[in-house]
Amino acid sequence: MKKLSLFIFASAFLFHATVGFAQEKEKEQYIDAARKILIETNNTAILFAPDQDNRLQQIYYGSKEKTPSDLQHLGEAYTSGGSDFYYTPALRVVHSDGNTSTLLKLEKSESKKVDDNLTVTKIYLKDDYYPFYVTLVFKAYQKENVIAQSVLITNKEDKMVTVYNFASSSLSFKKDKYYLTQFHGEWADEMNMVEEELRPGIKIIDSKLGVRAHEMRNPSFLLAIGAPAKEDSGEVIGATFAWSGSFSFSFEIDEKGRLYALSGMNPFAAQRLVAPGESFELPEMLTIYSNNGTGSMSRDFQMWGRKYGMRGGFQEHTILLNNWEATFFDFDEQKLISLFKGAKELGFELFLLDDGWFGTKYPRNNDHTSLGDWDVNPKKLPNGIKALTDAADNIGIDFGIWVEPEMTNPKSELYEKHPDWVIAQKHRPLHFRRNQLNLDLSNPEVAEFSFQVVDKILTQNPDIKFIKWDANRFVTNGGSFYLKPEFQSHLIYDYHQALYKLMQKVVDRHPNVRMMLCSGGGGRVDYKSLSYFTEYWPSDNTDPLKRVYIQWGYSQFFPAIATAGHVTHWGARPIKFCFDVAMSVRMGMDRDLAKLSKEELEFSKNAIIEYKRIRPIVQFGTQYRLVSPYENPHSATMYVNDNKSKAVVFLYQVKDVDFGEKTIALKGLDSGKKYSVREINRWPDATGNTTMNIGTFSGKQLMEGALNSSLNKQLTSSVFELTAE
Ligand code: GLA
Repeated sequence: MKKLSLFIFASAFLFHATVGFAQEKEKEQYIDAARKILIETNNTAILFAPDQDNRLQQIYYGSKEKTPSDLQHLGEAYTSGGSDFYYTPALRVVHSDGNTSTLLKLEKSESKKVDDNLTVTKIYLKDDYYPFYVTLVFKAYQKENVIAQSVLITNKEDKMVTVYNFASSSLSFKKDKYYLTQFHGEWADEMNMVEEELRPGIKIIDSKLGVRAHEMRNPSFLLAIGAPAKEDSGEVIGATFAWSGSFSFSFEIDEKGRLYALSGMNPFAAQRLVAPGESFELPEMLTIYSNNGTGSMSRDFQMWGRKYGMRGGFQEHTILLNNWEATFFDFDEQKLISLFKGAKELGFELFLLDDGWFGTKYPRNNDHTSLGDWDVNPKKLPNGIKALTDAADNIGIDFGIWVEPEMTNPKSELYEKHPDWVIAQKHRPLHFRRNQLNLDLSNPEVAEFSFQVVDKILTQNPDIKFIKWDANRFVTNGGSFYLKPEFQSHLIYDYHQALYKLMQKVVDRHPNVRMMLCSGGGGRVDYKSLSYFTEYWPSDNTDPLKRVYIQWGYSQFFPAIATAGHVTHWGARPIKFCFDVAMSVRMGMDRDLAKLSKEELEFSKNAIIEYKRIRPIVQFGTQYRLVSPYENPHSATMYVNDNKSKAVVFLYQVKDVDFGEKTIALKGLDSGKKYSVREINRWPDATGNTTMNIGTFSGKQLMEGALNSSLNKQLTSSVFELTAE
């Protein structure tokens, strides 16, 4: 939709609204289209305008290409509680004199083009009576169609106000049917996609876990309009919250079928007291509207993520060998050096030393002790980390190390010294998860300690090239010994402000260290934390059969280059299947190489060579999801490079079937080009391979389904490399 036509549409709406909504309240009938505020990207437009009382209304959200009849009066842009709005509001405040209502009016708006791709629009609202201000901030990323919404709440009253509800994003819709997909799960079972039709009433998906989310769900959703979400057609909104703490997304349908979608931090026990002159800044909700289904939405998110939501999105990511599932806590210097010698021989580029290397008074030999005591265990590593980085250097492999700087065990020197540094409620028994406690980062002294943990390891060992930053429990008993009684509800917000500051400090001090974001698996996969990291660990569940689904789920929002996939022994699956699944993301391995058979070693070595060749296509290419494992006994996904000269297709059989060939229609190719198709990563015994036909086809033929697969046994898989002639 061009700017001019938007103006005409909005003017048409003025007429339409006056007539068409005659039964609504008088003041909702008039929209001052001349004062419209337009937020737009290449595909999407959100339109706001004030009504005759100067209250800001949302009048459009969707494709730029829609017709005038799609303009609707969708409701107040940022609803507030206690006055005339009687559903769950975006904002609820108790003002300094006890008034429980807020009535926001439009003051002004301004837009600034930050660069060719990013425009920031700020809409300034003020309470009709109180000097209480709300600024709606929209960052519109043109090419990737991401609109990031956040809110700044400012108190200029003469006393403290208390904010009880505080959505970062408030969007309304008026359509026939809505379908919500959430990404729920728990430890080792992340990102299960479940879609349901929304019904009148309120549906909330949330987490109250404080510092991570995955024992409940990832802070993301899909909202399909009119019909369930499809890969390549239909209206869908993808949304992911750039925030690692408790969150709440609520979807409320009113009597007129209007849907209010509110997203933000979880207001549960989290009211914020805002002092005179202070502001309260809410995290960003990232949304993409698509009228071509989830596929194009995901491609936009993945590109946005590489550009803005992670570090190193345009640098090749290294192939790593991790010792966790290979040794758990049971290793010493010799064992490790032997592991990374083998790693180098096989073609790995990085060795990651996991948990268990620290603790002197209480050596970390299991998960009951030592978190907080970050001195090297002299029994396991008598010559310190330096001996390992030196050996790695000699062998010619990078070295990385695991840390968990936000935690302590009660059996640790740290806890003995500072029992008041943990998150706990007074007068209540301590509540453990994985035998550990969260450190209270809202206390600046504790946050500085956590920073020092990471900084010291990296400063004393300048040859460490990579860290895995873990956080293995969520918050229960959410009390702070540091915060004053009246500010206890600030804990989770203050914790995260401190956490992000300390992550930023680590990045500033050690800009070349690559970092993996981990939280007992995918407990903290969101675009705020990820912006400090180069990759994330999706799940402790490394069974490749499960990973097909987990990777499918994350790929809705996050790029393959950021997604770590390791070949392990979990599920005792055929090693070819393990590699084929890991190769579709950032590949690594977590196995004791000495325990691999000769055949497996040979296969692994070859797979690493193959991965190095296809790595730029997987890590920098555009992903097209072809066949969903949720709806089929098989699954397929592919990546195409920028000039469409190369592509790689991954095909997995997730269930046994007894029928024969199925067509796999490829996507994203150049229909005029001719591609030679060849199967790679073949198991030496040909019976283990697919019989999918190979040869030379035009892009058009391939996209029309020239390729067939006759895989029918669960845990079989194949990988195809396409090269334009
Ligand atoms: C968490 C991580 C694992 C591993 C262990 C170590 O569970 O997700 O990958 O690092 O901690 O204790």
